[in-house]
Amino acid sequence: MTPAPLRIHTPVCVIGAGPAGLLLARLLELNGIDCVVLERRGRDHVERRVRAGLLEQGTVEALRRAGVAGRLDREGLVHEGFELRLEGDTYRLPFTKLTGESVWMYGQQEVVKDLIAARTTAGGALHFDVDDVRVDRLAGDGATVTCTLDGRPAEITCEFVAGCDGFHGVSRTAVPAASLTTSTHTYPYAWLGILAAAPPMSPELVYATGERGFALQSMRSSTVSRLYLQVPPGESADTRSDEEIWAELDLRLTGGSGALPTGPVLERTLVPLRSFICEPMQHGRLFLLGDAAHIVPPSAAKGLNLAVADAELLAGALAVWYATGRRAALDAYSATALRRAWLGQEFSRWMTELLHTGPGGTPFDRGLRRARFDHLTGSTAAATDFAEQYVGQSRR
Ligand code: APR
Ligand code: PHB
Repeated sequence: MTPAPLRIHTPVCVIGAGPAGLLLARLLELNGIDCVVLERRGRDHVERRVRAGLLEQGTVEALRRAGVAGRLDREGLVHEGFELRLEGDTYRLPFTKLTGESVWMYGQQEVVKDLIAARTTAGGALHFDVDDVRVDRLAGDGATVTCTLDGRPAEITCEFVAGCDGFHGVSRTAVPAASLTTSTHTYPYAWLGILAAAPPMSPELVYATGERGFALQSMRSSTVSRLYLQVPPGESADTRSDEEIWAELDLRLTGGSGALPTGPVLERTLVPLRSFICEPMQHGRLFLLGDAAHIVPPSAAKGLNLAVADAELLAGALAVWYATGRRAALDAYSATALRRAWLGQEFSRWMTELLHTGPGGTPFDRGLRRARFDHLTGSTAAATDFAEQYVGQSRR
């Protein structure tokens, strides 16, 4: 006999426990608003998923306001500039000097761990391994979400649904296709990312590009490096041996000098490069946040930062609604979030195109790239504009 459905009522049903969903839940809790978080994967999986790790100053401040930045402030690496290398020529972009703002290196999964710990300590509802999540009814005054919780069918009635379930989630599909405009751009290359037990070759990030393609040296600590290699889009994460990956990284980052420190590869991920955005980011009582609404290529590491900004924006609007009954901020959510998301899209695409040449890149393409590089290195105005976008200042 099928067990009777579990019936739950909550003001806000949050679908997805990535940075967007978890931060939203935390901020709602700080405002005295209850919510239920439903996550398809297990806690272990979510806490180990290696993603980008660059936090803009605005993101760090948001996490501090949420009271979840203790470990980030102790362990995060504060950066004030990065290096750009084009065919052997090196330029340092001193973004803190140009903007007054820094960025922090701290893995996304560490942010996720800190947010899960905060939610668990506070005793807030956070369910892992939840199957069959579906936004069943979406009406002017509320919604019903159905799912399978601990093997039992469950029916969650709520006043608002927050779709924080990433690009492949179900929330977006609850919006009628005729009410949604989506735009997608796929780039003719991908990134192979590795996490390695090796010290970074330099204390700052190095973005290198040249005839062999793009490579990035990033890090998580003084003993763990995060590196990326531009690869053809069809390649899989295990096409190359560790030795081949290190040799190619060394060629692109140091010209083959052997200066790149190597070590055991702890993890590999293949990252497709694409841009995606859907408009609007709300439909009645359903709001879309983070990757559920927009994907950016990883070149400028904006994905996590945009997700955090969405969560803060919606939490603020819901707090006003519950405190005063005023809905102007909720009604403005989509327009405000989309303005920032488009700025993030534009910069991410610009930076992607600065750093990569696709298959069939011509001498003309290479000439244009050199001109962009020369413009950046020769003009303080151009460097400041780049820096403002890189640290996220221009989206506020
Ligand atoms: N039901 C419940 N949870 C789901 C479902 C579903 N049907 N589908 C996906 N999820 C969960 C995923 O397992 C994941 O934990 O939703 C969560 C979405 O989290 P993220 O993908 O991390 O997205 P978001 O919180 O928006 O953060 C954006 O993540 O992908 C990176 O580069 C991106 O840094 C950016 C950040
Ligand atoms: C990372 O460390 O994962 C990272 C850093 C900078 C980027 C992209 C990714 O531009």
